[in-house]
Amino acid sequence: MKLLNTLGIAIAGLMLLAAPVSAAEGQMPSKDIGFSFEGAFGKFDRGQLQRGYKVYKEVCAACHSMHYVSFRNLSDKGGPEFTEEQVKAVAATFTMQDGPNDAGDMFERPGLPSDKFPSPFANEQAARSANGGAYPPDLSLITKFRPGWFGTFNQLINGIGGPNYVYSVLTGYEDPPAELAAEAPEGKSYNPYFANGHWIGMPMPLSDDQVTFDDGTKATVDQMAKDVSAFLAWTAEPKMEERKRTGFMVMIYLGVLALLLYLVKKKIWANAH
Ligand code: HEC
Repeated sequence: MKLLNTLGIAIAGLMLLAAPVSAAEGQMPSKDIGFSFEGAFGKFDRGQLQRGYKVYKEVCAACHSMHYVSFRNLSDKGGPEFTEEQVKAVAATFTMQDGPNDAGDMFERPGLPSDKFPSPFANEQAARSANGGAYPPDLSLITKFRPGWFGTFNQLINGIGGPNYVYSVLTGYEDPPAELAAEAPEGKSYNPYFANGHWIGMPMPLSDDQVTFDDGTKATVDQMAKDVSAFLAWTAEPKMEERKRTGFMVMIYLGVLALLLYLVKKKIWANAH
């Protein structure tokens, strides 16, 4: 009887584990892109991160901040790896609020490499009033914050799919189904991949050839969406490559240690019958 009880509790526990984490009702699971940085040995594609940065800068930065990323991070190893000269030039294209100065006034100055990617709006109210009441969230950690698919087992194997979520939102604008078209809220677009319901307050931000990539890659919506999603995967986990390298070394170390321990054990017990 006791055994049965224990078994029952264990099964109930497992079922809880397998239950999907809360997703907005009817949210579509993200499209699966197969990014280069997925899997135990996956790495970022340098060129892709540089293109993704360009998309962020020329399109997304008009509405979204990245308060956890400094300009100088763009030259860090494992990231887009821009040169320090390039980073200085990037920083100088942003205008930063600073102060107060000796007279107690706030003032503006060009960005420095140590500054963080600012919000284009003075405060949340200004951001909302410019976007029909919707708030453009900070994008630094968005790929960690929003899962692309659901179910604990699925996420254990495939990761949470944050970059796939961003890609899916950017490419997921559609005509609303006929029965919903009538109730379209003003200023919102239909996007079944958006986590907060099907109506999103961000107008479709990408259109073909919106940016010109320095490496000659054609700037289709699909390409830009992939590149900026990869870039945002890096901003959310800038030390990913280092982490994977360390993990690999630890596995080798543990493997060698296990082998040694086994050989020692065999030797010690060899004559003990
Ligand atoms: C014109 C302003 C504007 C531009 C440009 C813009 N966004 Fe947005 N974005 C918004 C607003 C406003 C929201 C919030 C929508 C809502 O809550 O309904 C949003 C929401 C999002 C979301 C969903 C966030 C969530 O909570 O799940 C993502 C992802 C996103 N934006 C990424 C981007 C990316 C990447 C770019 C550049 C390619 C971009 N946005 C360009 C205004 C903008």
